[in-house]
Amino acid sequence: MAQSRITLLVPDLPRRSEIEPYLKEIDEARWYTNFGPLCERLESGLRATFPKPYPALTTTVNGTLALELALASMHLPQGARVLIPAFTFVATASAVIRAGFNPVIADIDPSSWLLTPAIARSAMRQGRIDCVIPVAALGCPVPADEWDEFCAGTGIPVLVDAAGAFGNQMPGERIALAFSLHATKAFGIGEGGLVVSREDALIEQVRQLCNFGIDSSSGLAPFAGTNAKMSEFHAAVGLASLNRWAARRRMREALHRRYCSELIRSCPGITMQTRPSDGSYTILQVLLPALADRDDVADHLAIQNIETRAWYLPLLPQHPAYAGVGKCEIPVARELAPRMLGLPFHLDLSEEDISRVCTSLADAPGLNSRHPK
Ligand SMILES: Cc1ncc(COP(=O)(O)O)c(C=O)c1O
Repeated sequence: MAQSRITLLVPDLPRRSEIEPYLKEIDEARWYTNFGPLCERLESGLRATFPKPYPALTTTVNGTLALELALASMHLPQGARVLIPAFTFVATASAVIRAGFNPVIADIDPSSWLLTPAIARSAMRQGRIDCVIPVAALGCPVPADEWDEFCAGTGIPVLVDAAGAFGNQMPGERIALAFSLHATKAFGIGEGGLVVSREDALIEQVRQLCNFGIDSSSGLAPFAGTNAKMSEFHAAVGLASLNRWAARRRMREALHRRYCSELIRSCPGITMQTRPSDGSYTILQVLLPALADRDDVADHLAIQNIETRAWYLPLLPQHPAYAGVGKCEIPVARELAPRMLGLPFHLDLSEEDISRVCTSLADAPGLNSRHPK
């Protein structure tokens, strides 16, 4: 008999009954967008999820525009060169280009899979860098204190692409953060984004850019903005998500711990991304042994009806849109990329599913001595 399918990712949004009270409020207020009452409530609720003193924050329509508008608010020089990692989702690079700047692609650390301050400093020795976007890759937070120190020491602004790291990425003192609230994220609302900063002026500027550039006190647009406002309907889902956030966060953390320990025990040949064990993750990607062929391993799991995907791959320079942009040498990213494989990870996974994934992976070609390459 065919085994049941183990899906890669199942979004975990609030159910209709949890959202309905907020929809009723929208009906009554007849206020549908333009930073309405639900959006404002969501923003204060989200602010309170960060440690005190709470940072300033604004919602956006998605994470890509959160990045683009935060960059546009950082007073970068014309033609600014913005350092980004080779291992990220394409939105990091597209936001830089759409904000009018030039991406410069950098390598990643072999154990955290992140662009680190040391990598940024080395890139600065090879050419001018005006801004850095370290990415909280696969939800792994970047060290806020180290990036604060980098900003203070170099004078270069840092915007963290924390798209998938809500609940994990902390604000620091100098760095700004951009989050995604896409349906696939731990705090998902469908489509949505957030910019977080200690600098009120930056948040005000992002908010103005979200609203066509119009200054709410004068009614004039001193610069061209766009429309990136979050609707009240998305804020309704957000408020319902906020009600269940603490419990969901704990469930994700427990799942991650259990899953990782079983993987490490069953598949000693794989390596995990070094990331905090108390994180709230939506993605689990492993590094296969050098001798394993990712396609063979993925095929082996597919035969057992287990879905996989190589997240953030191919690397940025392998996408035609970014093949010609500036880059540093990226030997680590190039070495790790062909060995990375994303496994099913979501709150609907049963203990039996986790065991099946671990057993199947342990038995895959290149991981089991019975299947030599
Ligand atoms: C690293 C990274 N940056 C940016 C984004 C874009 O966020 P959004 O889909 O909300 O526009 C994503 C989305 O998954 C992402 O993973």
